[in-house]
Amino acid sequence: MCMTTPAPKPWEHTKSGQGSAADPLAARFVSSLDYDKRLYPHDIKGSIAHARMLEHVNLITPDDLKEIERGLNEIESEITDQGDAWPGWKVELEDVHMCIEAALIEKTGDAGRKLHTGRSRNDQVALDLILWLEDAVGEFKDRLLDLIGELLLLSESAGTIVMPSYTHLQRAQPIVVGAELLAWSDAFERCIWRTDGIGKLSPIGSGAIAGSALSLDRSKTEGLLYPAVEGVSTNSIDSTASRDAALDFAYALSMTSMWLSRWAEQWIIYSTTEFGFITLDDLYTTGSSMMPQKQNPDMLELIRGKTGLVYGSLMALLTMCKGLPIGYNRDLQEDKRHVFAAYDSVCDCLDMATRIVKTTKFNEEKIKQGLDKGFLDATSLAEYLVTKGVPFRTAHQVVGKLVQACRDKGYEKLSLLTLDDFNAACPDKKVVEKDVYDWLGPENVVKRYQSAGNAGLSGFKEQLKAWKDRLGNTGQSE
Ligand code: ARG
Repeated sequence: MCMTTPAPKPWEHTKSGQGSAADPLAARFVSSLDYDKRLYPHDIKGSIAHARMLEHVNLITPDDLKEIERGLNEIESEITDQGDAWPGWKVELEDVHMCIEAALIEKTGDAGRKLHTGRSRNDQVALDLILWLEDAVGEFKDRLLDLIGELLLLSESAGTIVMPSYTHLQRAQPIVVGAELLAWSDAFERCIWRTDGIGKLSPIGSGAIAGSALSLDRSKTEGLLYPAVEGVSTNSIDSTASRDAALDFAYALSMTSMWLSRWAEQWIIYSTTEFGFITLDDLYTTGSSMMPQKQNPDMLELIRGKTGLVYGSLMALLTMCKGLPIGYNRDLQEDKRHVFAAYDSVCDCLDMATRIVKTTKFNEEKIKQGLDKGFLDATSLAEYLVTKGVPFRTAHQVVGKLVQACRDKGYEKLSLLTLDDFNAACPDKKVVEKDVYDWLGPENVVKRYQSAGNAGLSGFKEQLKAWKDRLGNTGQSE
């Protein structure tokens, strides 16, 4: 057969010789180059390991390997230098894998033509994703640690300020600021744990779906890629059909977004005039185009708002996979679009959160002014009665009545009541003594908590110490 123009896709063998590259819309539609270009260092790393394995099992010669390594290293520096302007990016070649392979063949001829021995883009792209995840997870953890580091620093400076806690956004019990800051740290630490073990099995050598009749040594390739991978996947069909690594990471990112969003919401509330618990730095507020006095917490609002994109990515991935027959289907190409978008967004949010924590001030005076509102010490009074032998349910009723009595008299504080008032409300009239006043008032209450993990002074101090022991120091960020 004689073709006038060479097929733009050397792996397509069509009657016309042109195939899907002949329609520009089809060429663009099938291409993932826009978003998978960023995989080039991982693609090259995987290809070098694959080539070394091929040489090890005598499927290519040492000279072939030398040529392949030289060519791939050159391509890597060219792309690093030229970025999007690298002439090897050709939309008609569909993706990062084929652009790099075509450039390699141009540089090395037959040596480059041997690189794809025993592999398919299906196992290649699965490996690239896993190698990318190693870097991405590392970056993600570092960013979370930076944020945790700033939360710890803030808890060291403002941690002993007494503040109200809230359930149902109604005043609950007194706590110290540090305990709440460390609550966020615990949640963000779990976001780190969620990434443990994601995508640690090497799919390369699974080929298109069924493996290969050639004498590939998959453990050799895996060894060359350790620690990005820590084992060889066990089933070639599953290895090329699944995107669980992308989904696991998207879930970890979604949970991080969820926690960032809750934290952002909390601090938006705390920064209102009505609360005034914190002051955000001018750097992280913006003005209104109409109302000259405004300082809006836009950065926090955007952290909250960007959660939609991240959840959307997880939902897109789940939906993308749900109808697929086992084996590779082109739908899977869309995975990277979503996981990259979610990752980029969460990284931005984490960096922004770190800066906000670093520059925010807790307003001790303002918090103190309102501390007597809401009978924060009511539970403490019930626990005092328990220490005097009153069953908790009875104590709860007694204190409920006392709070009502205060409201009737226009008192804001339980400590304004006399011993006679207290005893009159109790079934056994003699239990309340002078020491009751040591259990009242938010400042006293935060000193009394003793249960493990409490949100008062002792719990905060123990948790801070544990954090410092765990991290070595508190200042993780710049
Ligand atoms: N760019 C593709 C992806 O990301 C590569 C796999 C193409 N495989 C195929 N059999 N057409 O999924």
